[in-house]
Amino acid sequence: MSDLEFLFFLLPPILSLLLVFNLIKRKQTTLSLPPGNMGWPFLGETIAYLKPYSATSVGEFMEQHISRYGKIYKSNLFGERTIVSADAGLNKFILQNEGRLFECSYPRSIGGILGKWSMLVLVGDMHRDMRMLSLNFLSNARLRTHLLPEVEKHTLLVLSSWKENSIICSQDEAKKFTFNLMAKHIMSLDPGKPETEQLKKEYITFMKGVVSLPLDLPGTAYRKALQSRSIILKFIEHKMEERMQKMRGGSENLDDDDLLGYVLKHSNLSKEQILDLVLSLLFAGHETSSVAIALAIYFLQGCPRAVQQLREEHIEIARAKKQLGEMELNWDDYKKMEFTHCVASETLRLGNVVRFLHRKAIRDVRYKGYDIPCGWKVLPVIAAVHLDPSLFDQPQHFNPWRWQDTCGSSSTNLSASSNNFMPFGGGPRLCTGSELAKLEMAVFIHHLVLNYHWELADTDHAFAFPFVDFPKGLPIRVRHHTFI
Ligand code: HEM
Repeated sequence: MSDLEFLFFLLPPILSLLLVFNLIKRKQTTLSLPPGNMGWPFLGETIAYLKPYSATSVGEFMEQHISRYGKIYKSNLFGERTIVSADAGLNKFILQNEGRLFECSYPRSIGGILGKWSMLVLVGDMHRDMRMLSLNFLSNARLRTHLLPEVEKHTLLVLSSWKENSIICSQDEAKKFTFNLMAKHIMSLDPGKPETEQLKKEYITFMKGVVSLPLDLPGTAYRKALQSRSIILKFIEHKMEERMQKMRGGSENLDDDDLLGYVLKHSNLSKEQILDLVLSLLFAGHETSSVAIALAIYFLQGCPRAVQQLREEHIEIARAKKQLGEMELNWDDYKKMEFTHCVASETLRLGNVVRFLHRKAIRDVRYKGYDIPCGWKVLPVIAAVHLDPSLFDQPQHFNPWRWQDTCGSSSTNLSASSNNFMPFGGGPRLCTGSELAKLEMAVFIHHLVLNYHWELADTDHAFAFPFVDFPKGLPIRVRHHTFI
């Protein structure tokens, strides 16, 4: 082949490449991306985005970006080109179009630590199957029959350990309550037993790693968490084998009332899948609700009028039960806790346990004149909607009464409309534990206000790291009182 022939041979692929490159470039410049700043190469604006701030605010980064660019802006976060949304409409649109236009997309480090079969990272059919298991296990019927009595038992176990006039770390106490409840519900582990306490200890190390920088280096929180993950998985595996042996031996006492028994009997999941499911449900189920309970304790100590109204509500419920000679709370009692539900909603709105979600566009999307290109990351910031002054009057103010007029479908109060309230996410990935979380909050509050007065023993405040945490553990001084 002569040089000229060779050149003619190469020319078409070179020209095609140039054409494609040009088309991509033209497409990018003709796209109507939201305004914003891509920051530094690779790092983008991640460090500023993750800077800790008061949990009852959106933080300086969001505030500045919203005032400069509006509620929808572009950035570079977690090493990816990202569209950030503080817009209620876009957030709903993203969550409702899961699997069609957008897809769940948590950073790879989350999959590394929670496991590749964790519900948080799964998409498509596998996610749907795991979700069904979780939904069946947390169904309303189970809440009434199994979970309500357990929630009350574990609440009383924690509250009865509080000594008169002592200072307790309420964040730890809330974690103890939700961990014991989940450990019982998932693997029939009893509180206080050495194996439960050992698992709790490993879980604390594990949790520190989930929320740390994903640096797998000696001594880092992430490396320690990976080690704890293997210990926890070995523990669950051991429990699984014990259970399978019992099943093979035809034992009558199968503990199949717990999640482990349920999945072994009713699913075809592999061992690896069951391990990740159990590990991530234990994580999703105890970390979030415990923060919500600590936040309620915190907001209520600053709002005596709400505590007073709660007490009246719960005294009435407790008196009626006493007259009937009943001891344990039942579903009808729970349904009577109307103001308590307002307190729970307001706590979740102002405290924002989960602040933003991770998604990516799986198609080119156009929204309100903006383009969201396929492959870009999308962050619906639910906290920004809950703290938006155009949607909630005085959003920084703890005001449970704002929810009073919103009960029932005939609500006319737009300011606290459940339409803009998404503490549990939305669409096909709506939290499967939302009803359990609300039940835990209500029952805990019931016994707390009926038995204790509490005040802050030291100044503390909830911070978003972005996971919500009280740096001093929310120390409170408790005084026993019997109101009934
Ligand atoms: C106040 C407490 C809670 C809050 C604020 C909360 C919040 C959330 C949010 C926002 C999501 C959506 C994540 C996403 O779309 O990417 C979620 C998912 C999930 N939550 Fe919760 N949650 C709470 C309690 C619980 C509890 C008690 C459980 C279980 C016992 C639980 C289990 C789950 C599971 C399994 C998912 C994944 C659902 C799916 O992907 O289909 N959560 N939660």
